Amino acid sequence: MPFYHKLGKIPPKRHTQFEKPEGGLYYEQLFGTEGFHGFASLLYHVHRPTQVKDIAAPIDLTPIAALDKHVKAQMLRGFDVKPVADFLDSRTIVLFNNDVNIALAAPQKSMTSYFYKNADADEVLFVHKGKGVLKTLVGNIPFSYGDYLVIPRGIIYQMEFETEDNRLLIVESFSPVLTPRNYRNNFGQLLEHSPFCERDYRAPSELETHDEIGDFIVKTKKQNVLHEITYATHPFDVVGWDGYNFPYAMSIHDFEPITGRIHLPPPIHQNFEGHNFVICSFVPRLYDYHPKAIPAPYNHSNIDSDEMLYYVDGDFMSRNHVEKGYISLHPAGVVHGPHPGAMERSIGKKETGELAVMVDTFKPLKLTQAALDISDPDYFKSWVE
Ligand SMILES: [Fe+2]
Repeated sequence: MPFYHKLGKIPPKRHTQFEKPEGGLYYEQLFGTEGFHGFASLLYHVHRPTQVKDIAAPIDLTPIAALDKHVKAQMLRGFDVKPVADFLDSRTIVLFNNDVNIALAAPQKSMTSYFYKNADADEVLFVHKGKGVLKTLVGNIPFSYGDYLVIPRGIIYQMEFETEDNRLLIVESFSPVLTPRNYRNNFGQLLEHSPFCERDYRAPSELETHDEIGDFIVKTKKQNVLHEITYATHPFDVVGWDGYNFPYAMSIHDFEPITGRIHLPPPIHQNFEGHNFVICSFVPRLYDYHPKAIPAPYNHSNIDSDEMLYYVDGDFMSRNHVEKGYISLHPAGVVHGPHPGAMERSIGKKETGELAVMVDTFKPLKLTQAALDISDPDYFKSWVE
């Protein structure tokens, strides 16, 4: 996160003795990224955070390509992914490459028996349905429909749901997830022309300190393998922390759209970026206002980009038949554009209520069998008149 935040109690000087009221010292942890050069925070634990008691047999979660090299446009019915009680079991990777894993999930239950840490990927959880609290070792963040939860690699967390009907779109990024470079100044502050600002971020606001000893399972994902590590102390035993490395939430409903007289390209919708990919938010907005404007997009072939679009709500202007939770994938190498009639329909329209999340990758996305199981086999022919 490009701003400073602190919660709880911390000593006035870093790396100095921080005494517990009952005697003894708190245990300091530097929690950094990208070696010692990325975002970092200093955490103060009640117990030594290194007390591994046991490590169970690993579980390989490496996604397998059912469709690797391809040029066929795809439409996936995302809500056909079945609800599953457990959060981790519910995560179904549908698309992936070396930069990102993109998963759908419909978890029904809160995580109570274990904690989760993704050791080598930042996670962006988009909440399409559901309400609850993201609980982490650096504090809690309430979430609801439309929230992006950005969870840096290494943050130990639990998802606590108030609801049973939950739908998440999950992007695992093997590089840090950042805000767009062109919206930040040299100091990281968001500029005036950015479609969102720091006030739209919700940092952890409530720090729960659990001074508990026992068996605590932290399921740790590293290199697409899940390791079940048992610790001797509760992972949420932090009494205070400060720094720049922490999870945060931002609602897609707080993204202020940029509009123009003629059609503006997808970069105006950009919300996040990582290495070789961007995440964009398409939100309700007024249409282009040139007297001869065509609000629907032109046909385009960004020849070296795959374009994944996840439909959240509202009518999507360029498609003839989409439902909530559908995912379109328009692969690099082939041209795509509005469906027959969509361009004509858009002329004269004043506004759109569409809500969608787009992930554009510079490297081709592969499809898993789970993706093929929910795909419309005839979608790629749907432009033929
Ligand atoms: Fe497109």
